[in-house]
Amino acid sequence: VTPRLLDLFAGPGGAGTGYSRAGFEVVGVDTKPQPRYPFELHVVDALEYVAEHGREFDAIHASPPCQHYADVTGWGHAHMRPRDDYPALIAPARELLRATGRPYVIENVRTKELSYPTMLCGSAFGLAVRRHRYFEVGGFVLPVLTPCCRHAAGIVPFDHGGTSTESAFRDAMECSWMTAHEARQAIPPAMTEWIGRHLMAALATVA
Ligand SMILES: C[S@@+](CC[C@H](N)C(=O)[O-])C[C@H]1O[C@@H](n2cnc3c(N)ncnc32)[C@H](O)[C@@H]1O
Repeated sequence: VTPRLLDLFAGPGGAGTGYSRAGFEVVGVDTKPQPRYPFELHVVDALEYVAEHGREFDAIHASPPCQHYADVTGWGHAHMRPRDDYPALIAPARELLRATGRPYVIENVRTKELSYPTMLCGSAFGLAVRRHRYFEVGGFVLPVLTPCCRHAAGIVPFDHGGTSTESAFRDAMECSWMTAHEARQAIPPAMTEWIGRHLMAALATVA
């Protein structure tokens, strides 16, 4: 049977799509409707859902909102409020993920809240985008040697100031089904496809 992956804080489905490519059946959870999310979606609170249903899945991914942790928050960006206006959900999510006993992944920006995270860059997967994301894993391991950044000239930086046009960024991430705005919240599927293959291999050895 196809392993099932629970995609918490699903957003428009960048992370979820990578796991699907790696062979998982993906089910998402988000408090906001996500009309372009490509898989089954439950519009409810992620922490409540994982507490109740987490064990029904083979593995769980969580992308809590990064605004509390991101460096740009409160640096005078007119649309950003101070970081304490945003919830800090990494620690409560981790506690609930561990309680399920399932292998898990927590993705975020660079923050000391993540335990021994692995950093991945879009450019390491041949994408023309410089986007760094950090992944804590539990219940399985990732290789110590990860794909390296290739910050070649001409690749599109992720930058909140927005020097690149938004649709160029979306297309470079290979998130063509999203709006350009949604793509700024998403991670490139290539990252979770890579993680998903290691997760799949780990599940196969315990099965
Ligand atoms: C950074 S986005 C996730 C992007 C996604 N990982 C991707 O690659 O497309 C975070 C999402 O968390 C959702 N969210 C915020 N608080 C939530 C909660 N308590 N429960 C479920 N979803 C929540 C937001 O609506 C938003 O869509």
